[in-house]
Amino acid sequence: MQLSMRFVLLGFLQIASCQQIWDIWQTTWDRQKLFTYFQPSPGPINFVPPGPIGSADIVINDSAEYQTIYGFGGSLTDSSAQILYNLKNRNSAAYWNLMDYLFNATDGANSAGFSYIRVPLGSTDFSTNTYSYDDISGDAPLFQFSIGATPSYVWTVLRDMLSINSQLRIHVLPWSPPGWMKQGTMDGGYLNPSYIAVMANYLLKSVQGFQDQGIPIYAISIQNEPENSNPTYPTCSMPVSTEGRIGIALRTLLDGYGFDDVKIIGYEHNWVDAANYPVQLMQQAGSAFDGVSFHCYQGSVNQQAQFTSLYPNKVSIVSTTFSRYYRCLQEVYLTECSGTIGSDWWSDIKWYMDNLFIGSLTYGSSSGLMWNLALDGNGNPKLAGTNSCNPPCRGVVQVNSDGTWSPNQEFYSMAQASKAILPRDVGGPWGQRIGVSVGGSLNWALVVGAYVTKRVSPWDWNRYSLVVLNWDDGATTTWNPRPVTTTIEFRGMQATYTFPVGVTTLWWYAPN
Ligand SMILES: *[C@@H]1O[C@H](CO)[C@@H](O)[C@H](O)[C@H]1NC(C)=O
Ligand SMILES: *[C@@H]1O[C@H](CO)[C@@H](O)[C@H](O)[C@H]1NC(C)=O
Repeated sequence: MQLSMRFVLLGFLQIASCQQIWDIWQTTWDRQKLFTYFQPSPGPINFVPPGPIGSADIVINDSAEYQTIYGFGGSLTDSSAQILYNLKNRNSAAYWNLMDYLFNATDGANSAGFSYIRVPLGSTDFSTNTYSYDDISGDAPLFQFSIGATPSYVWTVLRDMLSINSQLRIHVLPWSPPGWMKQGTMDGGYLNPSYIAVMANYLLKSVQGFQDQGIPIYAISIQNEPENSNPTYPTCSMPVSTEGRIGIALRTLLDGYGFDDVKIIGYEHNWVDAANYPVQLMQQAGSAFDGVSFHCYQGSVNQQAQFTSLYPNKVSIVSTTFSRYYRCLQEVYLTECSGTIGSDWWSDIKWYMDNLFIGSLTYGSSSGLMWNLALDGNGNPKLAGTNSCNPPCRGVVQVNSDGTWSPNQEFYSMAQASKAILPRDVGGPWGQRIGVSVGGSLNWALVVGAYVTKRVSPWDWNRYSLVVLNWDDGATTTWNPRPVTTTIEFRGMQATYTFPVGVTTLWWYAPN
């Protein structure tokens, strides 16, 4: 309503002078603001003819359009689903408040609007027990395959999420094939290559099983962390050639059973090997894959460029089916990172924004996800006997046994990033990254991502968003958090805003 009023009233003025910043979401280092919405005072911030630049100068180039951002979120592990389900039973109002705060992607909602989750196929280190969808040894035809091995609370929570955000993108993947396809256990080891076709069929049946439960699948990966074999929880080391052969077989099966829209995403492991595993996967089986995904635990985010320099990002106008013919075009996803209990709240937020929720996008990612969506204050529940997550992993939100919950730094970091790219219109386009650079004497103080969200109607103005980390806090010398007076340059006009130390998301509208 407010927007259309503005459009009508200001339609008489010069178009370029109409652009104003009305909406700000902010999380500050001192937690005075926690993903807090406000409008600038005393009035909106106007874009005016340019004057001198501020201490920092954000220069936007909206002619440079990059990848679509599909959303932020985390993994709905069995543990996360269990703890959320327990909350639902104990305090249903608190549960629905939490679900709404996490997943409501409606424009203007007081919610992070998380829109991308990973769901394990079978057990992980965050399950009550070890299981696959077919634990009958030697059952190569998969007669005994049953999606029903998934705990019922996973389906309950998934359906509740979808009831709030029908556009939720669900990315499924196994932590291990069934033990009998390996050396008898899901814990570590490798797939017996004679089961490659069986494993492809297992993954097809998984997608069908989710569909039968009313859960649409956006993407599937062949194997979580194929370079990690750990004898204390479901893991599997999988050479490139095996993953590639499963990918090719699975692509044929998915296409043959009406799942040609389901993306296959390769690799699912750390930045550190970006130049090797995912590149070799593309060389051996690129046509079967829609993209590759990275985890944050080893290496650094700039190593994503070792992949994207060889396999540039798909642009959003190329449909998935069409782009499969162009083996060199691949999407990139950031699908896992975890905080650990005991680390510093504000230091974590700086690292997350710099490396993941602004940084990884700048290096081509279309998503930003943490590991467990929800855990208790001790990083539980967890699979008995696993040595993973030591020190304990922190969930995106903490859910307590007394029926209360609280968001962690992972929530605030992702919420600030998510808000910038959610569709402005119901069913409308998602945000795309656009060109941005930072000048000025304090250019090092800001880390900036810029995005455009296009509209359904050609008469409606695009939304232009910035996600800005000001990390000028003096933390390495003498603690001294300094707000940075910043000019924002857009199409020859200039706005001025002083960014406090923290993370700020703001936007304005302009004609396309
Ligand atoms: C803006 O981006 C376009 C498209 O990538 C590019 O051709 C142009 O040189 C850029 N402009 C500036 C000032 O960098
Ligand atoms: C999402 O938020 C909008 C705007 O605040 C609200 O009208 C709507 O009821 C919410 N949707 C759900 C499913 O909670």
